[in-house]
Amino acid sequence: MRLEGKTVLVTGAAQRIGRAIAVAIAQRGARVAVHFHRSRKEAHILVEELRAGSCEAEAFQADLADVKDTRRLARAVLRRFGAVHVLVNNAAIYERTPFETVSPADWDRFLDTNLRAPFFLSQALAPAMRRAKQGKIINIADFSALKPWPDRIPYCVSKAGLLCLTQALAKELAPRIQVSAILPGAFLLPEGASAEYARIVANASPLKHLGSPEDAVKAVLYLIDSDWGQVLTFD
Ligand SMILES: NC(=O)c1ccc[n+]([C@@H]2O[C@H](COP(=O)([O-])OP(=O)(O)OC[C@H]3O[C@@H](n4cnc5c(N)ncnc54)[C@H](OP(=O)(O)O)[C@@H]3O)[C@@H](O)[C@H]2O)c1
Repeated sequence: MRLEGKTVLVTGAAQRIGRAIAVAIAQRGARVAVHFHRSRKEAHILVEELRAGSCEAEAFQADLADVKDTRRLARAVLRRFGAVHVLVNNAAIYERTPFETVSPADWDRFLDTNLRAPFFLSQALAPAMRRAKQGKIINIADFSALKPWPDRIPYCVSKAGLLCLTQALAKELAPRIQVSAILPGAFLLPEGASAEYARIVANASPLKHLGSPEDAVKAVLYLIDSDWGQVLTFD
């Protein structure tokens, strides 16, 4: 898909990997809906930066743990831009959740934000993509969907669910809409991670290095260019 004149919604776009994806998409000539939850200031700075580069951009706040808010986000973006051609489900929560301490509320928070929201955003935006006769849904999952970690079970389960959702939606929405996922390994460590931790994580990978947000950007652009829906694993 050529991005000039198209509209792309990136969730969790105010910072880190989502921000890098939003910037790259804007550079390809798309209009960008920058979703944020708590990072209002960063989202508005990004929108100003994108507009300075002649991109039509707008910030939208929504709590994706709340399904009503998730649907409101889809309506707001459609009202503002008239269409959404590409949805990048990037927003997620990622925290340590030791087995003994996981509560039902924790479980719901992970599953609601990381899995339910991508489903209901897809459901809300698919009709507009069908009307446009083309659409792409790109889910940012995680390699831990395939190789889960014991101290982050709700997160890993949410990402495994996102992988299944990708494959199910790919069949449901074909042929006009292609649905893909990327399964990154460690690309960008949490804020404040020590150099020692970075070294341990890098050494645990066969290639002995971390990925980068640019790796995610390249993958997303490839999936937008491609005529296929597919799952890309960084392992
Ligand atoms: N970082 C990595 O190495 C890595 C590796 C594998 C997979 N991934 C996946 O790649 C994606 C991006 O990674 P990242 O590290 O850049 O993510 P991140 O910084 O942990 O989170 C991205 C955004 O998610 C948003 N978010 C969290 N809870 C939300 C909620 N309830 N409602 C709406 N938005 C919410 C936050 O928005 P606000 O800031 O506006 O609150 C946050 O900026 C994630 O899906 C992650 O699971 C990352």
